[in-house]
Amino acid sequence: MTTTTTTTRNLYIAFLICDIPLPTIVSQYGDYTQLFTTLLTKAAKTHSPPIDLHIESYNVLEGAYPKDPSVFTGYILTGSKFSAYDTLPWISHLKDFIKTVDAHTNAKVIGICFGHQVIAEALGGRVIKNPAGWEIGWTNVNVNDCGAACLNTTKQSMRIQQMHQDHVTVLPPHFETIMSTPECPIQATISGNRYLTIQGHPEFTPGVVKEIVKARKASGVFSEEVASAVLEKVDNPVDDDWFARKMIGFLWGTVGEE
Ligand SMILES: *[C@@H]1O[C@H](CO)[C@@H](O)[C@H](O)[C@H]1NC(C)=O
Repeated sequence: MTTTTTTTRNLYIAFLICDIPLPTIVSQYGDYTQLFTTLLTKAAKTHSPPIDLHIESYNVLEGAYPKDPSVFTGYILTGSKFSAYDTLPWISHLKDFIKTVDAHTNAKVIGICFGHQVIAEALGGRVIKNPAGWEIGWTNVNVNDCGAACLNTTKQSMRIQQMHQDHVTVLPPHFETIMSTPECPIQATISGNRYLTIQGHPEFTPGVVKEIVKARKASGVFSEEVASAVLEKVDNPVDDDWFARKMIGFLWGTVGEE
């Protein structure tokens, strides 16, 4: 008789929730906690060894934070309709918390969209509204040599949904750009084994993007032309699961080759 022992490992992750999606998105697809839990759970299960995720969500819009920032292996900062340079109390509180995590813990920090931008602002970089305008929906993003090395891949591009007008223009010290598009040269960054940030949304399904586009077309933010161009490509294949496995690997400490 053979005995197989499968050892499951644990990762303790805090989500710092920076927005509540539109009600129609929450009702059909879930809030940010559900969107990221779905994405990351799949990646964690296929990791070798399999990883059990222990997730706590903190609504930082309402000032909720972990009492002891050092108990988590990793932090994930979500997207938001707000701008990382907005002078709002909750955003300056969030930047202070990022600085605390940076200085007083060994936690790994992953930022998505607004999360990517607010990490840059907190640690000495800069974010502005992009004069090139919005980047919306399905996008093919270039992965540079540094990105390929850090992400342990031969991939030269990744496909991901976008929803942003702001972008990072100045990196914090010790951060490196790993992905870019012509309109947004700083699409993703890495800093040692501590920070991984990305402008796109690996947690957005095409349905989520469709709802945002529908709402922003109705409110006049996106023109008919822009909206229909986005909807034409929104169901194209994406590399979300691949990137989710990179996120799990980054949190775990070794990014597997793929
Ligand atoms: C790349 O992945 C392989 C196996 O998946 C691993 O052994 C190696 O340490 C990784 N390299 C880096 C630089 O992370």
